[in-house]
Amino acid sequence: MAVIGKNLGTVCELLSSGEVVAIPTETVYGLAGNALNSGAVDKIYAVKNRPKNNPLIVHIAGIDCLQAYAAYIPQVALKLAEKFWPGPLTLLLPKAAHITGEVTAGLPNVAIRVPAHPLTLNLLNMLPFPLAAPSANPYGYISPTNAAHVNDQLGKAIKYILDGGPCIRGIESTIVGFEDDVPVIYRKGIITPDDIKKISGDVKLYQNETNKPITSGMSLSHYSPKTSVYLTKNINDLNDSLPSQNIGLLTFKNFYAITDREKQVVLSPAGNLEEAATNLYKALHRLDSMQLDLIIAEYVPNGGIGTAINDRLTRAAHKVIS
Ligand code: TXA
Ligand code: MG
Repeated sequence: MAVIGKNLGTVCELLSSGEVVAIPTETVYGLAGNALNSGAVDKIYAVKNRPKNNPLIVHIAGIDCLQAYAAYIPQVALKLAEKFWPGPLTLLLPKAAHITGEVTAGLPNVAIRVPAHPLTLNLLNMLPFPLAAPSANPYGYISPTNAAHVNDQLGKAIKYILDGGPCIRGIESTIVGFEDDVPVIYRKGIITPDDIKKISGDVKLYQNETNKPITSGMSLSHYSPKTSVYLTKNINDLNDSLPSQNIGLLTFKNFYAITDREKQVVLSPAGNLEEAATNLYKALHRLDSMQLDLIIAEYVPNGGIGTAINDRLTRAAHKVIS
């Protein structure tokens, strides 16, 4: 079983010997290994049961290290890094030669970010190598936002979980690539298209024209609980058509009369989207542990962070009811 603790010395030793450990970030917990050690990278894929065509994010200590891992850095990428790092922004940049195709799933770009978590920043500053780290969940399941989530899912497979408390941002980083030096958003997150546009003047959303995701992390079904999730615009409209089952609700700011309060999780009673993002995965983990037949989730209001939350809800959902 994994040890849950805050001992950076132990974590350094484990990582330096090619082991994988769970680390906290401001978004979600990561399953980290030495990004320059192919044995450690292999272990990450194996522990997560993740297909090798789904590349990993490389976590670095600071913007000063960026040049060591990216072969080319557009001026606009540097501006975004200066503005948002440490923080929930991942940049896709042409990889330096010593980043292996195993980390990037054979793609020419490497995903890089500086996480905004004091413990993990200390750790990265102690290590002579960067950390490859996908979210610390079994492939396809809900991302973990506290040490207990990691322990429940992967505790038997890893030796140490660095406990940095609950993740304050709660959903995965915004992923941004570049086309002719214009930022292209590949995964929506807390840093919104408008936030990026303020720095770059221009921003595009990645359009999946062929319906073929470039990595499996972009495939439609992802981040799913084991319990069936139905997603709807308005829970009140469902009243008559609800199946007589043991139902839980995941709502934005209100409780509903249709089922017991104990089976409802409200993401933000104040209607605050940042708070809703912080609470999203914890809510899904909790509802998924309640032995329900069905979870009904409602969309949060679209726009900015709301659009990123609805993206995760859509991926978690087994069915959308309009
Ligand atoms: O907030 C986060 O980004 C968290 C924390 C731990 O940093 N990490 C995370 O990693 O969400 P993961 O592996 O669950 O999602 C990373 C996604 C992959 O699914 C893939 O779609 C994309 O990043 N990605 C990574 N490298 C890429 C590349 N070279 N080209 C395109 N997409 C890439
Ligand atoms: Mg993930």
